[in-house]
Amino acid sequence: MEIKFCRHSFVVKTSIVLPSDTNNYGTLFGGRLMSYIDDVAAIAAIRHARAPVVTASTDSVDFLHPIYEGNSVCLEAFVTYTGRTSMEVFVKVISEDLLNGNRNLCAMSFLTMVAVDKHNKPTPVPQVVPESETEKMLHDSALKRAAIRKKRKEEAAGMAAAFGTDYPWC
Ligand SMILES: CC(C)(COP(=O)(O)OP(=O)(O)OC[C@H]1O[C@@H](n2cnc3c(N)ncnc32)[C@H](O)[C@@H]1OP(=O)(O)O)[C@@H](O)C(=O)NCCC(=O)NCCS
Repeated sequence: MEIKFCRHSFVVKTSIVLPSDTNNYGTLFGGRLMSYIDDVAAIAAIRHARAPVVTASTDSVDFLHPIYEGNSVCLEAFVTYTGRTSMEVFVKVISEDLLNGNRNLCAMSFLTMVAVDKHNKPTPVPQVVPESETEKMLHDSALKRAAIRKKRKEEAAGMAAAFGTDYPWC
């Protein structure tokens, strides 16, 4: 079994928050941040698997601090745990007031990305090996998060069956 270290998938993306990225309160639009989170998680997973990936799930994203126009927003991501075909990716979001250097941890999330083959079927990925204390902590706690996701997926399947695809106004 091929192995890879967490650092092999490490991704950093920094950008400045422009007016076109903000809501009417002058802070970064939540949907834009979620799109950035999905982007960096996908890059980390593709780097690890060296295969195309799809997002299977995103754990909750709590917006801990607003990110103001003119701040920088920096996302860091890496693969923390691997199953047979799935990869858990941790994403951390830090804002910085570039004029005074104040930084805030604004959001964190775990995403599950699945490597797929040319028929879009799940395909095996290398095993990830943690090295640093943080990587080991995230790796060791991954199975607990996976169990919660499994339960949530089962509940979602039940709700999907109950709701169906009818228009709500019919
Ligand atoms: C994700 C997807 C490929 C899984 O395919 P599947 O036929 O259900 O395959 P499996 O049940 O064998 O699951 C494959 C892996 O994904 C994991 N997985 C599937 N759904 C999951 C979910 N909701 N949350 C976390 N992991 C999930 C499984 O645990 C399994 O992991 P493992 O191989 O490491 O043990 C498929 O459901 C899919 O294509 N979903 C849509 C993805 C998408 O469009 N994303 C948004 C745009 S990129």
